[in-house]
Amino acid sequence: MAGKWVLITGASQGIGYELTRLFAQDGYDLVLVARDRERLAQVSDELKTRHRVNVKVLAKDLAVPGASREIFEDLSREQVPVSILVNNAGFGFQGPFVAHELQRELDLIQVNVTALVELSRLFLPPMLARREGRILNVASTAAFQPGPFMALYYASKAFVYSFSCALAEEVSGSGVTVTALCPGLTRSQFHARAGLKRPGGILMMEADKVARIGYRALMRGKPIVIAGVLNKLASAGAKAAPTRLAARVARKFNEP
Ligand SMILES: NC(=O)c1ccc[n+]([C@@H]2O[C@H](COP(=O)([O-])OP(=O)(O)OC[C@H]3O[C@@H](n4cnc5c(N)ncnc54)[C@H](OP(=O)(O)O)[C@@H]3O)[C@@H](O)[C@H]2O)c1
Repeated sequence: MAGKWVLITGASQGIGYELTRLFAQDGYDLVLVARDRERLAQVSDELKTRHRVNVKVLAKDLAVPGASREIFEDLSREQVPVSILVNNAGFGFQGPFVAHELQRELDLIQVNVTALVELSRLFLPPMLARREGRILNVASTAAFQPGPFMALYYASKAFVYSFSCALAEEVSGSGVTVTALCPGLTRSQFHARAGLKRPGGILMMEADKVARIGYRALMRGKPIVIAGVLNKLASAGAKAAPTRLAARVARKFNEP
């Protein structure tokens, strides 16, 4: 896969970091995006040493409007053709909608939704022109019901899921595929950063396992993959339940 470049956002840790290892094992060259430049440099060194792949680091804050365009322009200038785009960066936070700073809420939409749309819109046309490419968008099982006390996060993932499924259908037969990965509870920094009590229980999955499930589905061109049997069952229940009931159940999990 030498010469095939993968652009991955949120590559510094968690599911994104585990995905970078899978791509590097298969010989893909990588562009790593996240805010933490030092951590990205560590990941880059690890991938180059272990797997002898080319790695570029772009330390960017996707909450800053214009960051996605800068990424596209940097890579266009350096003539790096992106064969696979992984929109993985994302965050959430817990609490009543009105309790948070409006700017923090707008940042969530910018990172989880707007940057994902911008990167897809910028990198998809060259893929379609080459009749070759793949996009992996990391949604969540949160996509399948409203999430009181994490309302914006759940809504952002419902957007990612719906947008990705629609796009997958639009581009079918073009040589380009779009995959929505829906993890459930996954061990990473996500919960601590969201201000959530570290959840445990049988639904919790390891980030490397979730990454492997997403990677396999991406390579097979599957439009949707829910990580793990229990998450598949829980998601089927959430989809089948009346919306108000599903929201009440989610409230039980999220209410501080
Ligand atoms: N963990 C779960 O239970 C779970 C469940 C379902 C879905 N997900 C989704 O899975 C994806 C990965 O989450 P994770 O669990 O791996 O969380 P994580 O360990 O917190 O990793 C999040 C990644 O996103 C990057 N990121 C966050 N804000 C950013 C910003 N403003 N600009 C650029 N990069 C940013 C982080 O790097 P920097 O901090 O260095 O910027 C980090 O690399 C997210 O989309 C999340 O919503 C997670």
